[in-house]
Amino acid sequence: MSTIKLLGISGSLRKASANTGLLRAAQGNLPAGAQLDIANLSDIPFYNQDIAAKPESVVRVLNQIGAADGLVLATAEYNYSMAPALKNILDWASREPNNSLLAGKPVAIMGAAGGMGSSRAQYHLRQVCVYLDLHPLNKPEVFANAFAGGFTAEGDLTDKAVTALIAEQMQALVAKIKA
Ligand SMILES: Cc1cc2nc3c(=O)[nH]c(=O)nc-3n(C[C@H](O)[C@H](O)[C@H](O)COP(=O)(O)O)c2cc1C
Repeated sequence: MSTIKLLGISGSLRKASANTGLLRAAQGNLPAGAQLDIANLSDIPFYNQDIAAKPESVVRVLNQIGAADGLVLATAEYNYSMAPALKNILDWASREPNNSLLAGKPVAIMGAAGGMGSSRAQYHLRQVCVYLDLHPLNKPEVFANAFAGGFTAEGDLTDKAVTALIAEQMQALVAKIKA
Protein backbone atom coordinates (compact mmCIF):
# COMPACT_ATOMS: atom_id res chain seq x y z
CA MET A 1 0.00 0.00 0.00
CA SER A 2 1.26 3.52 -0.77
CA THR A 3 2.10 6.00 1.97
CA ILE A 4 -0.83 6.94 4.19
CA LYS A 5 -1.15 10.72 4.25
CA LEU A 6 -2.38 12.41 7.41
CA LEU A 7 -3.04 16.10 7.87
CA GLY A 8 -2.73 17.62 11.33
CA ILE A 9 -4.78 20.73 12.08
CA SER A 10 -4.23 22.68 15.29
CA GLY A 11 -6.83 25.16 16.47
CA SER A 12 -4.15 27.33 18.08
CA LEU A 13 -2.25 29.87 16.00
CA ARG A 14 0.47 30.83 18.47
CA LYS A 15 4.08 29.75 17.90
CA ALA A 16 4.51 27.96 21.23
CA SER A 17 1.13 26.21 21.04
CA ALA A 18 0.85 23.03 23.10
CA ASN A 19 -1.75 21.76 20.64
CA THR A 20 0.60 22.15 17.70
CA GLY A 21 3.15 20.45 19.96
CA LEU A 22 0.81 17.46 20.23
CA LEU A 23 0.75 17.28 16.43
CA ARG A 24 4.56 17.34 16.32
CA ALA A 25 4.53 14.48 18.83
CA ALA A 26 2.17 12.61 16.51
CA GLN A 27 4.59 13.25 13.62
CA GLY A 28 7.35 11.64 15.64
CA ASN A 29 5.28 8.61 16.65
CA LEU A 30 3.72 7.37 13.42
CA PRO A 31 3.52 3.75 12.35
CA ALA A 32 5.70 2.80 9.39
CA GLY A 33 4.26 3.85 6.05
CA ALA A 34 2.45 6.95 7.34
CA GLN A 35 3.34 10.63 7.08
CA LEU A 36 1.77 13.65 8.76
CA ASP A 37 1.87 17.24 7.54
CA ILE A 38 0.70 20.12 9.73
CA ALA A 39 -1.61 22.71 8.19
CA ASN A 40 -0.90 26.42 8.61
CA LEU A 41 -4.08 28.30 9.58
CA SER A 42 -2.39 31.62 10.34
CA ASP A 43 -3.61 33.28 7.11
CA ILE A 44 -7.11 31.77 6.95
CA PRO A 45 -9.85 34.43 7.12
CA PHE A 46 -13.15 33.91 8.89
CA TYR A 47 -15.69 32.20 6.69
CA ASN A 48 -17.86 34.80 4.97
CA GLN A 49 -20.40 33.84 2.36
CA ASP A 50 -19.85 37.22 0.67
CA ILE A 51 -16.35 36.12 -0.37
CA ALA A 52 -17.21 34.76 -3.81
CA ALA A 53 -13.80 33.33 -4.72
CA LYS A 54 -11.99 31.32 -2.06
CA PRO A 55 -8.75 33.02 -0.93
CA GLU A 56 -5.53 31.29 -1.97
CA SER A 57 -4.79 30.40 1.67
CA VAL A 58 -8.12 28.61 1.99
CA VAL A 59 -7.62 26.74 -1.29
CA ARG A 60 -4.19 25.62 -0.03
CA VAL A 61 -5.55 24.05 3.15
CA LEU A 62 -8.64 22.60 1.47
CA ASN A 63 -6.34 20.91 -1.06
CA GLN A 64 -4.35 19.46 1.84
CA ILE A 65 -7.55 18.19 3.47
CA GLY A 66 -8.72 16.66 0.19
CA ALA A 67 -5.39 14.87 -0.33
CA ALA A 68 -5.30 13.46 3.21
CA ASP A 69 -6.39 9.90 3.99
CA GLY A 70 -7.14 10.99 7.55
CA LEU A 71 -7.13 14.07 9.76
CA VAL A 72 -5.56 14.65 13.17
CA LEU A 73 -7.41 17.48 14.89
CA ALA A 74 -5.87 19.16 17.94
CA THR A 75 -8.02 21.58 19.88
CA ALA A 76 -7.40 23.83 22.84
CA GLU A 77 -10.40 24.60 25.01
CA TYR A 78 -11.70 28.19 24.85
CA ASN A 79 -14.48 28.92 27.32
CA TYR A 80 -15.56 25.29 27.45
CA SER A 81 -15.62 24.84 23.68
CA MET A 82 -13.40 24.12 20.70
CA ALA A 83 -10.84 26.52 19.27
CA PRO A 84 -12.49 28.84 16.72
CA ALA A 85 -9.65 28.62 14.16
CA LEU A 86 -10.26 24.88 13.88
CA LYS A 87 -14.04 25.30 13.58
CA ASN A 88 -13.44 27.97 10.93
CA ILE A 89 -11.42 25.76 8.59
CA LEU A 90 -13.96 22.95 9.03
CA ASP A 91 -16.67 25.48 8.10
CA TRP A 92 -14.75 26.42 4.94
CA ALA A 93 -14.22 22.76 4.07
CA SER A 94 -17.88 21.93 4.64
CA ARG A 95 -18.98 24.23 1.79
CA GLU A 96 -17.54 21.99 -0.94
CA PRO A 97 -20.21 20.29 -3.08
CA ASN A 98 -21.48 17.03 -1.56
CA ASN A 99 -19.22 17.55 1.46
CA SER A 100 -16.62 15.81 -0.71
CA LEU A 101 -13.60 16.87 1.37
CA LEU A 102 -14.87 15.53 4.67
CA ALA A 103 -17.52 12.85 4.22
CA GLY A 104 -16.37 9.54 5.65
CA LYS A 105 -12.85 10.77 6.47
CA PRO A 106 -11.22 9.05 9.49
CA VAL A 107 -10.18 11.45 12.24
CA ALA A 108 -8.12 11.37 15.43
CA ILE A 109 -8.89 14.02 18.05
CA MET A 110 -6.48 15.30 20.69
CA GLY A 111 -6.06 18.42 22.74
CA ALA A 112 -4.24 20.37 25.41
CA ALA A 113 -5.82 22.87 27.79
CA GLY A 114 -6.37 23.25 31.52
CA GLY A 115 -6.93 20.45 34.00
CA MET A 116 -9.60 18.69 31.98
CA GLY A 117 -7.29 18.44 28.98
CA SER A 118 -9.72 20.08 26.53
CA SER A 119 -12.21 17.26 27.03
CA ARG A 120 -15.21 19.60 26.92
CA ALA A 121 -13.90 21.15 23.69
CA GLN A 122 -13.27 17.72 22.22
CA TYR A 123 -16.84 16.61 22.89
CA HIS A 124 -18.11 19.73 21.11
CA LEU A 125 -15.79 18.87 18.23
CA ARG A 126 -17.20 15.35 18.16
CA GLN A 127 -20.70 16.83 17.84
CA VAL A 128 -19.50 18.89 14.83
CA CYS A 129 -18.06 15.70 13.31
CA VAL A 130 -21.53 14.15 13.31
CA TYR A 131 -22.93 16.72 10.91
CA LEU A 132 -19.78 16.81 8.78
CA ASP A 133 -19.80 13.01 8.51
CA LEU A 134 -16.23 12.89 9.78
CA HIS A 135 -15.44 9.58 11.47
CA PRO A 136 -13.49 10.12 14.70
CA LEU A 137 -11.87 7.28 16.59
CA ASN A 138 -13.58 6.70 19.93
CA LYS A 139 -10.42 5.51 21.64
CA PRO A 140 -7.83 6.24 22.78
CA GLU A 141 -8.80 9.75 23.87
CA VAL A 142 -5.89 12.17 24.28
CA PHE A 143 -6.37 14.82 26.97
CA ALA A 144 -3.24 16.79 27.87
CA ASN A 145 -2.84 19.31 30.67
CA ALA A 146 -0.94 22.26 29.21
CA PHE A 147 -0.09 23.68 32.63
CA ALA A 148 1.32 20.70 34.51
CA GLY A 149 4.90 20.63 33.21
CA GLY A 150 4.27 18.28 30.31
CA PHE A 151 5.40 20.74 27.63
CA THR A 152 8.52 22.83 27.05
CA ALA A 153 8.28 26.62 26.75
CA GLU A 154 8.26 26.09 22.96
CA GLY A 155 5.23 23.81 23.18
CA ASP A 156 7.03 20.50 22.65
CA LEU A 157 5.45 17.56 24.46
CA THR A 158 7.63 15.94 27.13
CA ASP A 159 4.98 13.92 29.01
CA LYS A 160 5.72 10.24 28.36
CA ALA A 161 2.23 8.97 29.14
CA VAL A 162 0.59 11.41 26.70
CA THR A 163 3.25 10.59 24.09
CA ALA A 164 2.45 6.88 24.44
CA LEU A 165 -1.28 7.59 24.06
CA ILE A 166 -0.62 9.59 20.90
CA ALA A 167 1.47 6.75 19.45
CA GLU A 168 -1.39 4.33 20.23
CA GLN A 169 -3.90 6.72 18.67
CA MET A 170 -1.84 7.08 15.47
CA GLN A 171 -1.68 3.28 15.19
CA ALA A 172 -5.45 3.09 15.59
CA LEU A 173 -6.00 5.83 13.00
CA VAL A 174 -3.77 4.16 10.41
CA ALA A 175 -5.43 0.79 11.09
CA LYS A 176 -8.85 2.38 10.56
CA ILE A 177 -7.69 3.95 7.28
CA LYS A 178 -6.26 0.62 6.08
CA ALA A 179 -9.48 -1.18 7.00
C1 LIG B 1 -10.01 32.78 25.53
C2 LIG B 1 -9.50 31.59 26.30
C3 LIG B 1 -10.39 30.76 26.93
C4 LIG B 1 -9.94 29.63 27.62
N1 LIG B 1 -10.87 28.79 28.19
C5 LIG B 1 -10.44 27.62 28.72
C6 LIG B 1 -11.39 26.68 29.19
O1 LIG B 1 -12.60 26.87 29.15
N2 LIG B 1 -10.93 25.51 29.69
C7 LIG B 1 -9.59 25.22 29.74
O2 LIG B 1 -9.22 24.14 30.20
N3 LIG B 1 -8.67 26.11 29.30
C8 LIG B 1 -9.07 27.29 28.80
N4 LIG B 1 -8.14 28.18 28.30
C9 LIG B 1 -6.72 27.81 28.33
C10 LIG B 1 -6.26 27.21 27.00
O3 LIG B 1 -7.00 26.06 26.67
C11 LIG B 1 -4.80 26.86 27.12
O4 LIG B 1 -4.08 28.05 27.29
C12 LIG B 1 -4.24 26.09 25.95
O5 LIG B 1 -2.94 25.67 26.26
C13 LIG B 1 -4.15 26.91 24.71
O6 LIG B 1 -3.69 26.10 23.67
P1 LIG B 1 -2.28 26.30 22.96
O7 LIG B 1 -1.21 26.08 24.01
O8 LIG B 1 -2.27 25.25 21.90
O9 LIG B 1 -2.26 27.70 22.41
C14 LIG B 1 -8.56 29.33 27.67
C15 LIG B 1 -7.65 30.21 27.03
C16 LIG B 1 -8.11 31.30 26.34
C17 LIG B 1 -7.12 32.21 25.63
